[in-house]
Amino acid sequence: MKKKLTRFDLQKMKSEGQKAVWVTAYDYVTAQLAEEAGMDMLLVGDSLGMAVYGYSGTVPVTMDQCIYHTEAVRRAAPNTFVIGDMPFGAYQVGVEDACRNAVRFHKEAGVDCIKLEGGTRVASVIRAICDGGMLVMGHVGLTPQSSGAMGGFRAQGRTAESAKAIVEDARAVYESGAFAVLVEGVPPEVTQVICTQLPIPVYGIGAGDCDGQVMICSDILGLFQAFTPKFVKRYGNVAEEYRKVFAAYIDDVRKGTFPGDEHVYRMMDGEAAKLEADWSK
Ligand code: KIV
Repeated sequence: MKKKLTRFDLQKMKSEGQKAVWVTAYDYVTAQLAEEAGMDMLLVGDSLGMAVYGYSGTVPVTMDQCIYHTEAVRRAAPNTFVIGDMPFGAYQVGVEDACRNAVRFHKEAGVDCIKLEGGTRVASVIRAICDGGMLVMGHVGLTPQSSGAMGGFRAQGRTAESAKAIVEDARAVYESGAFAVLVEGVPPEVTQVICTQLPIPVYGIGAGDCDGQVMICSDILGLFQAFTPKFVKRYGNVAEEYRKVFAAYIDDVRKGTFPGDEHVYRMMDGEAAKLEADWSK
C-alpha cells in the first residue's frame, strides 16, 4: 500500500534531489486515480473556481466550496498528502480569522497542510497558523488571488527589482515557519535563487526546474477548454474523449440501440407471467 508522505519525507526528497510530483484534484474520481498513479501530493486548489465552477478567476471561491471539494479528495486519497488552499477572504481579514479557517480545513476536511498566497505581507498569518500546530505552504510570484492588483494573470519577476522582491517574499515565507513554498509564473533564474537560498522544498508551476512540480489536472488532461497557459504541457485530450462518448450515447439512444438486452434487469423466474396474468384480469 502507498505510504502517505510527511513533511520530513518531502524535505528528504529535496536533499536527495528527488522531485515531488503533484497535481490539483477537486473530486473523488480524479483524486482516486491520482493516488493510484502514485502522485506525491494533491492540491485542492482554489483554481476550482475556474476549473469546476466556471468563474473567470479564483476571487469568488468560498471557504465552504473549498471544504466540500477537499472532503471528497481526502476520502478518495487517504494515502496521499493533501493540501487545502485558503481561498481569497479566508486569511485577509485578520490573523484570528485565518487561524479559524485553517482549523476548519483540518477538522472538516482532514488536510495535511494549508497553502496561502503572499510573502512578506502574510508573514504574521503564516506564523500564527504555524504556532497553532499546523503546516503551511507559502505561494509567491504570480498569486492569482491578487491578479487585479498585478494587472492580470501575468508572469512576475522579469526585472531584477521585481525578482528581488519575490526572493524576499519566499524568504519571509520560510522565516515565518512555512515548511515549503510554491513559486508560480516566474523565470527559472529567479526560482533557482530561491531554491538554492532556502533549505525548505521549493515547488513550481510555470517557474522552471526546482524541487517538484504541480500542474492543474484539467490542464494536463486536456479537459479545460477556455485557455492553456504557456507553461502547461498537455498529456492527453480528455475533452475529445468526452465529446466522442457523449455523441455516441446520444446516437445510441436516438437510434434505439441503447439500452440493449445486456443492460436490463430480468424478473425472477415465473414472475413475469404472474404480472401479465394480473394485468389481463
Ligand atoms: O489553486 C491552484 O490550483 C493553485 C495552482 C497555481 C497550483 O494554487
